[in-house]
Amino acid sequence: SSKIIIAIDGFSSTGKSTVAKQLAQYLGYVYVDTGAMYRAIALYALQNGYVKKGEVDNELLIKDLKNIQITFQYNAALGFSEVYLNNVNVVSKIRGMEVSSYVSKVAAISQVRQKLVALQQQMGESKGIVMDGRDIGTVVFPNAELKLFMTASANTRAQRRFDELVAKGNTAVTFDEVYNNVVERDQIDTTRKDSPLIMANDAIEIDNSNLSREQQFDQILALVKTKL
Ligand code: C5P
Repeated sequence: SSKIIIAIDGFSSTGKSTVAKQLAQYLGYVYVDTGAMYRAIALYALQNGYVKKGEVDNELLIKDLKNIQITFQYNAALGFSEVYLNNVNVVSKIRGMEVSSYVSKVAAISQVRQKLVALQQQMGESKGIVMDGRDIGTVVFPNAELKLFMTASANTRAQRRFDELVAKGNTAVTFDEVYNNVVERDQIDTTRKDSPLIMANDAIEIDNSNLSREQQFDQILALVKTKL
């Protein structure tokens, strides 16, 4: 059977990465977390003083984009790749609330999207890839063999995100902060001009509010098998 492209889109914290990783491991495919790429650029903007009074200085960031190198390196112990910003592993830095609160503003900048979409398309050239994000089925790989669109209630999503942060030892964060961030990102992501978050016509919607990880995986694997 030949290799395919699996595009997984959806709102924040819908479990896209969980199922994407499971699928990639099962199929021996490459997993690419495109949110991590946008998060790494948001981190760069913060580190370089391009965020002022709560707003991103788009012009300064755009001018500096050529100096930003985003790469992935496979971590054998984890079984998937991790994102690097100018050769530094930034995985632990990009999940916090600070990056989360600016990433959607950074991701609304067309020049940022152009840079990252080009990289993502290169990574999918030889197929055998599971990519998750917001515009994978609509913009990055409009011809992907399988497109999934994940949804769940905002409350379910915020609770999952909150539990994840607490499990990682983040005790300062409150549920309300996480909930508000999830809702705010949904709002920015669905209303931006360039590549807004929208379900592709030919995507299959999966509402996982009431599905366990295993149930979700089984359901999606059955869909994948129809495409192989
Ligand atoms: O997937 P994750 O929640 O880590 O993504 C963080 C943010 O990056 C999203 O809220 C969105 O603003 C942006 N993003 C995007 N396009 C993608 C992936 C992520 O605009 N393909």
